Amino acid sequence: MSEPIPVIPESAPFTPEQRAWLNGFLAGLFSRGTVAATPAQQAAAAIPLSILFGSQTGNAEALAKRAANEARKLGFAPAVHDLATYTADQLPSERRVLVIASTYGDGDPPDNAKPFWERIRNGTAPTIADLQYAVLALGDSSYPKFCAFGKAVDERLEAMGGKRAHPRLDCDVDFDTPFASWIVTALQALAGESPITNHQSPALAPQPPAKFGRSNPFPAPLIANRKLNAPGSSKDTRHLAFSLEGSGLEYEVGDALAVRPCNCPELVGELIAALGCSVNDALNGMSVHHALLHDYEITRVPAAIVKAAGERCGNDALRQLSGAELNKFVHGMDVLDFIRRYPQAKFSAADVALLKKLPPRLYSISSSPKAHPGEVHLCVGIVRTEFGGRPRKGVCSTFLADRVPMDASVPVFVHHNKNFRPPGDPSTPMIMVGPGTGIAPFRAFLEERRAIGAKGRNWLFFGDQHATTDFLYHDEIDAMLSEGTLARLDTAFSRDQAEKIYVQQRMLEHARELFAWLEEGAHFYVCGDASRMAKDVDRALHQVVESAGGRTAEQAAEYIRQLSASKRYQRDVY
Ligand SMILES: Cc1cc2nc3c(=O)[nH]c(=O)nc-3n(C[C@H](O)[C@H](O)[C@H](O)COP(=O)(O)OP(=O)(O)OC[C@H]3O[C@@H](n4cnc5c(N)ncnc54)[C@H](O)[C@@H]3O)c2cc1C
Ligand SMILES: NC(=O)c1ccc[n+]([C@@H]2O[C@H](COP(=O)([O-])OP(=O)(O)OC[C@H]3O[C@@H](n4cnc5c(N)ncnc54)[C@H](OP(=O)(O)O)[C@@H]3O)[C@@H](O)[C@H]2O)c1
Ligand SMILES: Cc1cc2nc3c(=O)[nH]c(=O)nc-3n(C[C@H](O)[C@H](O)[C@H](O)COP(=O)(O)O)c2cc1C
Repeated sequence: MSEPIPVIPESAPFTPEQRAWLNGFLAGLFSRGTVAATPAQQAAAAIPLSILFGSQTGNAEALAKRAANEARKLGFAPAVHDLATYTADQLPSERRVLVIASTYGDGDPPDNAKPFWERIRNGTAPTIADLQYAVLALGDSSYPKFCAFGKAVDERLEAMGGKRAHPRLDCDVDFDTPFASWIVTALQALAGESPITNHQSPALAPQPPAKFGRSNPFPAPLIANRKLNAPGSSKDTRHLAFSLEGSGLEYEVGDALAVRPCNCPELVGELIAALGCSVNDALNGMSVHHALLHDYEITRVPAAIVKAAGERCGNDALRQLSGAELNKFVHGMDVLDFIRRYPQAKFSAADVALLKKLPPRLYSISSSPKAHPGEVHLCVGIVRTEFGGRPRKGVCSTFLADRVPMDASVPVFVHHNKNFRPPGDPSTPMIMVGPGTGIAPFRAFLEERRAIGAKGRNWLFFGDQHATTDFLYHDEIDAMLSEGTLARLDTAFSRDQAEKIYVQQRMLEHARELFAWLEEGAHFYVCGDASRMAKDVDRALHQVVESAGGRTAEQAAEYIRQLSASKRYQRDVY
């Protein structure tokens, strides 16, 4: 006989929502206790499962942990491994592996997965004839090499002799829902089972009471919006501060803040007119106006819209566009441009569902909670350009700079990044390279070190266009220099002379000293532009180790691989 399921009475001191949640929770708990494990689950109980994650900013890592929870519910004994510390030589002794990995740069691995990838990519990789695996690739379809690293790992494991137990899933930025259904079928496949019927899907599981986070962002009041560039600058970089009072949100220096922006209302208005609908027309239980303002990315043209236009206009060339060609074709266009260009496709309110969800934007936190309790600060470069004769605005950066009044609330949550932290030992030296908005986390690191009285020496490389107008946080940096928080500052103002000077040139000019700091155990950090700066700084670091360390190119590469592996070379690049 099963026990009766307890019910929280109405007289109990809970709100109706709390009572409903608790009753749901108890029902789930008790019913699960009474369901006998299927034979397949019992078999799976003995099966170890390794879940490997390759992650730069924590998404893949968070999904790896969720995957482990799901696996545990199915009776697996999962072990989650960071690819930074997992060696490919462990693979032959595994039987079941789940890989969750994001993609960076030009289809490259995230930093933590680089040594693993170097080991498996060539012919000397171990053979894994007894391994069953499944890969979840994370990416962003606005990059030409969508999910390229996950795809490469999937193919490579097969080439090494592994058996793909379940087809790979390539997730776009909106990965929560696809992940939730894929993980269940992938685990079933790894367990070698027919579908498990009594598995409680994540969507049906009782949800804990609302805590602020990714699925329930905190409405944080904007308490500062200050331009950091002086008049005459060609740039608009803002210092923004939010209050986190009462949110329960906590962050550490090195974390990022995720912001859920709204689209520009004027652009939404123009789009509604071009779609020939009215603001009150309904879509999925809300007005089209609300959906376009809050939920959908309208500044980029997704593949689904291009395909729909191709089909409706009988335009095969358009219908067949894909990959790099598609990206090139839509580059610079927003949805308004596109539907104006193809009036024959007769796009309407119902087609809004073809757009991609508007993802939150991440910003490196520029404050230490020890220096600013109850607050979080950001340093944001405002994106304003022009295309086809119309001004274009970065969705989130202009939302923050122009459209949020002081004291109004902005939905935010903390995106933890344990791969970007100051040294654990406060006496360890730090070298920080942060041109432009790349200064953000280093302001936080320095504030933190000042607050705890850390004795380690700190060296900052900063650069931007002009010293007079673009020296971000100049006063604060000067104060840190004079009080000794900063032991060294080297600046590169790129446009103050005929020839461009960048931070990496300063690194090379001070190669001997920089190498000496590394030899003393300094950690080396880079933040800012990923497409050019971070690659050039990486190249300069190799040159520093070669020239000042007297190493060959291969030895320098190995030296830097070791720095990364020991978490002494960390990057926060975008
Ligand atoms: C971990 C992390 C940390 C970050 N930290 C910071 C930080 O500290 N400070 C900061 O300023 N930023 C930071 N960023 C970048 C930030 O998240 C945003 O990407 C940035 O603010 C631009 O967002 P937006 O919504 O304003 O612009 P978007 O609307 O997303 O546009 C951004 C860019 O995309 C391109 N683009 C837009 N529309 C099109 C189109 N139709 N066709 C082709 N290209 C297009 C343009 O080049 C444009 O400049 C960080 C990013 C990450 C991942
Ligand atoms: N797509 C673009 O064309 C473009 C342009 C600007 C910014 N952005 C993006 O906007 C965001 C914020 O920009 P930001 O204001 O933080 O700074 P930023 O544009 O990265 O500029 C900061 C400083 O870095 C210099 N710089 C340019 N290329 C470099 C390189 N290869 N190596 C080292 N330094 C280099 C810049 O010089 P110069 O500007 O004088 O070359 C400037 O002095 C970043 O994500 C960046 O990628 C994109
Ligand atoms: C600088 C940068 C480069 C990126 N490059 C790619 C890319 O080439 N291909 C892709 O599919 N996604 C790319 N992405 C998107 C990430 O893979 C995606 O945001 C993923 O969810 C990040 O997961 P993580 O937090 O585990 O690293 C890039 C993101 C950033 C910030």
